[in-house]
Amino acid sequence: MELQLKGGGPPVVPTNTVYSTVQQQDYSASVWLRRKEKKLEHSQQKCIVIFALVCCFAVLVALIFSAVDVWGEDEDGITEENCNKNCRIVLVENIPEDVTFSENGTAHLPLSVGLHGLLEMAFRSVEIVSPQWNLNSSVYDSSSQKSAGQGWALLQRLQGLKKKGISLKIASGMIDSAELKGLSRYSEVHYINMTALTKGFLHSSFWVVDRKHIYIGSATMDWRSLSTMKELGVIVYNCSCLALDLHRVFNLYWQLQYKDFIPSMWSKRLSALWNKEENLPLLFNNTKSDVFVSSSPDVFCPKDRTVDLDAISYVIQTAKRFIYISITDYLPLTIRKAHRYWSRIDGMLREALILRNIKVRLLISCREETHPLTFNFVWSMKTLCMELANCSMEAKFFNSRELRDGTLQGINHNRFMVTDSAVYIGNFDWVGNEFTFNAGAGMVISQAEGVGVRNSTLVEQVRVTFERDWYSRHTKNLQANKIPVCNKHQLNQMAHLKITTEPTESSRSEETPNGSL
Ligand SMILES: *[C@@H]1O[C@H](CO)[C@@H](O)[C@H](O)[C@H]1NC(C)=O
Ligand SMILES: *[C@@H]1O[C@H](CO)[C@@H](O)[C@H](O)[C@H]1NC(C)=O
Ligand SMILES: *[C@@H]1O[C@H](CO)[C@@H](O)[C@H](O)[C@H]1NC(C)=O
Ligand SMILES: *[C@@H]1O[C@H](CO)[C@@H](O)[C@H](O)[C@H]1NC(C)=O
Ligand SMILES: *[C@@H]1O[C@H](CO)[C@@H](O)[C@H](O)[C@H]1NC(C)=O
Ligand SMILES: *[C@@H]1O[C@H](CO)[C@@H](O)[C@H](O)[C@H]1NC(C)=O
Ligand SMILES: *[C@@H]1O[C@H](CO)[C@@H](O)[C@H](O)[C@H]1NC(C)=O
Repeated sequence: MELQLKGGGPPVVPTNTVYSTVQQQDYSASVWLRRKEKKLEHSQQKCIVIFALVCCFAVLVALIFSAVDVWGEDEDGITEENCNKNCRIVLVENIPEDVTFSENGTAHLPLSVGLHGLLEMAFRSVEIVSPQWNLNSSVYDSSSQKSAGQGWALLQRLQGLKKKGISLKIASGMIDSAELKGLSRYSEVHYINMTALTKGFLHSSFWVVDRKHIYIGSATMDWRSLSTMKELGVIVYNCSCLALDLHRVFNLYWQLQYKDFIPSMWSKRLSALWNKEENLPLLFNNTKSDVFVSSSPDVFCPKDRTVDLDAISYVIQTAKRFIYISITDYLPLTIRKAHRYWSRIDGMLREALILRNIKVRLLISCREETHPLTFNFVWSMKTLCMELANCSMEAKFFNSRELRDGTLQGINHNRFMVTDSAVYIGNFDWVGNEFTFNAGAGMVISQAEGVGVRNSTLVEQVRVTFERDWYSRHTKNLQANKIPVCNKHQLNQMAHLKITTEPTESSRSEETPNGSL
């Protein structure tokens, strides 16, 4: 009708009137028709509604049982079948200026160069999870200005991604970080309320770039990680298989935004692709390697994902000759309202020492926060070996340098373990709380001994790095009956300590199902 009117010759009567009359007629006609059909329609509607409800219910049931990920984004067509397994790996380190080593052959790619390189390579997406966001240090004196500049430069680079059309996604447990608030203008930030989920913290620290390259290690997005702290990690390039699996860990955090409960069932697209039973076979710089990603705590582990503790156990079990551990804190305690003995890792190491004669070296940081009981536990492990043939346990403390204002420089923030055949690089200190309540991720790389040229595989490189630190002038031997003074208030603290062996009411409910060996 409208067309007819418009299509007709030049209008002689005001179009408006004709148009509205026609409209009115049309309307009343339709009302009349509708009334007539109402009865018929009513029963039809009923049918449709019931049908729709049944459909909805069926879809819901299907969704629940198949755990299909309705919210999940696609994985860019990269699957475990077509992903790339021919990868490059580089060891990255941050060595503070005042930490020097006499040997010259062990310089690795500086962490800041590695991270900038990753951002340079980025083409579509950068996903970051970090326990800290403090790249723009506002509190540094002029002497450390140069080092603080590294953090500032990285922050600038991250802010510049948006302009280049690269999406930046950040998962974080910090609600009140001013830096993240500023960054949210340039990125998408998802907040995870770890207090509500596990009563812990988000300590995971890794990057996934373009679902192809990854970084994982001890460093966080803190300017100190790029300057005054000693950090170690790895960057893996062109490795979509590994990136795909680590991206799934990221995606799990991503979906927990503002949730105050942990889903009883995870989507299929979050389950692990590879694990300790089924490693991912890869080539790292043309060296055959077996790899898998681990995650914590166990309530954050969907089907098939190996928890960090089992990854650590795997590496300890597969060691044949030695286990070298470089860690900030080593403390077999769960510290909540009460101190409780937590034997998981301690037990594994004692077993390796006594039952399998594996040589163990522990390199622990000596710093302000070092728990005074660290010494007692380490010393007790050392005394186990006394007078035992072929039992070798050594421990050393890595010293930091105290500055005039009382802050410590050169803290060894490393979190790795290396054996004759494998490396574990994780996000945690080896303290009970971390594994029980906090979120973290890790990676295990196994490479057979003696493949390739000598000292050329990643496992060998990490071992050489450990030995460099071990024999350096920054370490102090563990001495009998002498607690190393890592902080001045330490001895006063000792008097107030009491360790419970019986689970207390609160810790019993917090205990994980596989709480003991
Ligand atoms: C360090 O390098 C110099 C020259 O390149 C060499 O003479 C020296 O022996 C090296 N030192 C060690 C401990 O390898
Ligand atoms: C760093 O913080 C200062 C103020 O403390 C601010 O002026 C500056 O813009 C910040 N830089 C970046 C890159 O956000
Ligand atoms: C996180 O969870 C805790 C405990 O449920 C709650 O008290 C707190 O308000 C939550 N924080 C945010 C920012 O939602
Ligand atoms: C990754 O692969 C691309 C294409 O195959 C290649 O051009 C690039 O150099 C590789 N990057 C690294 C770090 O190996
Ligand atoms: C210690 O190791 C040596 C060489 O590996 C072996 O011959 C010896 O039997 C071992 N001793 C004990 C008590 O296991
Ligand atoms: C792997 O290759 C890259 C570049 O070719 C090199 O920088 C890196 O050090 C190598 N990694 C190992 C573990 O040899
Ligand atoms: C391998 O590293 C060890 C130090 O752990 C060193 O003594 C040895 O000379 C290195 N071998 C080669 C071929 O570089």
